[in-house]
Parts: sequence; C-alpha cells; structure tokens
Amino acid sequence: MTDERRLQNLGFELLRVQDEHDPHDGRLVLRDINEGRMLPLAVDFLEPRLLHRLKHGLSKRQPMARALGFGSAKKAGRPYVIDATAGLGVDSFFMAALGCRVLAVERSETVAALLEDGLRRLRAAVARGGVEPYEALNGIVERLSLVKGDAREVLASLDEAECPDIVYLDPMYPEEDRSESALPKKGMQMFRRLIGDDADVESVFEIARKKARDRVVVKRPLRAPPIAGVRPTHSFEGKTARYDMYHSQTGSPSWG
Ligand SMILES: C[S@@+](CC[C@H](N)C(=O)[O-])C[C@H]1O[C@@H](n2cnc3c(N)ncnc32)[C@H](O)[C@@H]1O
Repeated sequence: MTDERRLQNLGFELLRVQDEHDPHDGRLVLRDINEGRMLPLAVDFLEPRLLHRLKHGLSKRQPMARALGFGSAKKAGRPYVIDATAGLGVDSFFMAALGCRVLAVERSETVAALLEDGLRRLRAAVARGGVEPYEALNGIVERLSLVKGDAREVLASLDEAECPDIVYLDPMYPEEDRSESALPKKGMQMFRRLIGDDADVESVFEIARKKARDRVVVKRPLRAPPIAGVRPTHSFEGKTARYDMYHSQTGSPSWG
C-alpha cells in the first residue's frame, strides 16, 4: 500500500503549517483529521526536553553509549553507525551527540519526511546561530544524515569498504509502552498506528550481522526476549530499555 493510501485509511494528513499564530508554523506535521484538538506529530530537535538531555544527561557511561562501545578502553575515534530503524530520529540524534557518524535509514515515506523536516529546521537554527548548546548541536548537524529507503536494501548494497562499524536497530515492539519516548502518549499512538509492528525486523537483523564490522546493537523493552531468539554477546540495561549487543561476525577491522 502506498503511504498516501495508508494515511487516507487512517484518517491522517501530512501538511505544512502556515499560520504565524500556530506554534507549529513552518513545520511539516502529521495530523489526525478526526482529533482536531490533538497535538500534531512533528520532529523538533530543539524541544526543551531533548536540549536538556543533551546539556545535562549525556554520558558515555549510559547503557546506550556502552552498548555502542564507548565504555571500552580499546575504542577511540568516531564509529560510523547505520541506524537501520531511524523513526523520528531521537536515537540517531543522541548517537551523533555521543560522537558517532550516523546514517539514519527510514523506510516509511511519511516518517522520513517528518524527520527530514526536523533535520532541516535543526540545520537552519544552527546556521543562524544563537542556539545552545551550540557546539553539540553543530557537531550533530555535521555527523547526522538521512536516507529514505529500506535498510535491508541499503545494507545489501554496501561493499566491504562502505560497511559501518555498527548497525543499530530499534524496531517497534508489540504493545510496548515507550515511556522514554520524546513523543506525548497520543503522538506515540499515532506513530504506532502508522507504522504497525515492524514484524519483518529479523531479516534486517540478519543482514546487519553480516555487514556490521564491529557490532549490532538492538534496543528492546526491558522484559522482551532477544531479537530472533539470538542470545546477545552482552546486554546493557537502562531504566526503560535494554540494549543487546552482538559482536560482529565479519572479522573486518573496525573502529578503535
Ligand atoms: C520504533 S521506531 C524507531 C524509533 C527511533 N529509534 C527514534 O529514536 O525515534 C522504528 C522505525 O523503524 C522503521 N523501520 C522498520 N524496519 C525498517 C527497515 N527495514 N528499513 C528502514 N526503516 C525501518 C519504521 O518505519 C519505524 O519508523
């Protein structure tokens, strides 16, 4: 089904707000036509909650950073990460903030359009200057890019020299309560209705394991079984999510 038809069936519309009295003025938003009062879904990397986390809550000792390899004394430099399930880009944003070079891949045309719009506004704000923390945001803009498409095709097309150090996966999980999400609960419900369950993610995991030079990292709800029933090399638990790390099978040289 095309994205356009899917939006029609759900009663959603994707539109650019053009109303200087609207806080979403200039943004591309996804709106539920039947829920007029509901806040629309948009990507805003300058949202106070994200900026606060960027200024005060980012540490290389956190579970996500450790799963990416930042805790290891042997690792240095900037790993190249393919975020194969980019979604609304929050994890890509924080991986870039940690210092990774990130290629975010998103297959839903609607989600990719929202993410592209959020990145465009972030780039514009950094170019204008005056946003804080400027250095961190400028680094993120330099290191984060987006590709629209299916990560399986993107990964399959890479020759050995182009392979990433890390492939990161954060698939939708059935009935998951994404309490750490940057989205309000209603926005999360809209997102879930749009995307469904990413039921085919095991095939992304399979190709990720063949292409990642160093590791594959899979974000899971705390009590969920490991992806495809495959036991991780190591798991890093946070308050709301677990990061399962799988060492590479490629044997290729990697970062660090
Ligand atoms: C749970 S969301 C990811 C949320 C994201 N980590 C964030 O911080 O916003 C999963 C996303 O992965 C995308 N996705 C699933 N399978 C994919 C694939 N094979 N290629 C590209 N994107 C995929 C879905 O469309 C969905 O937007």
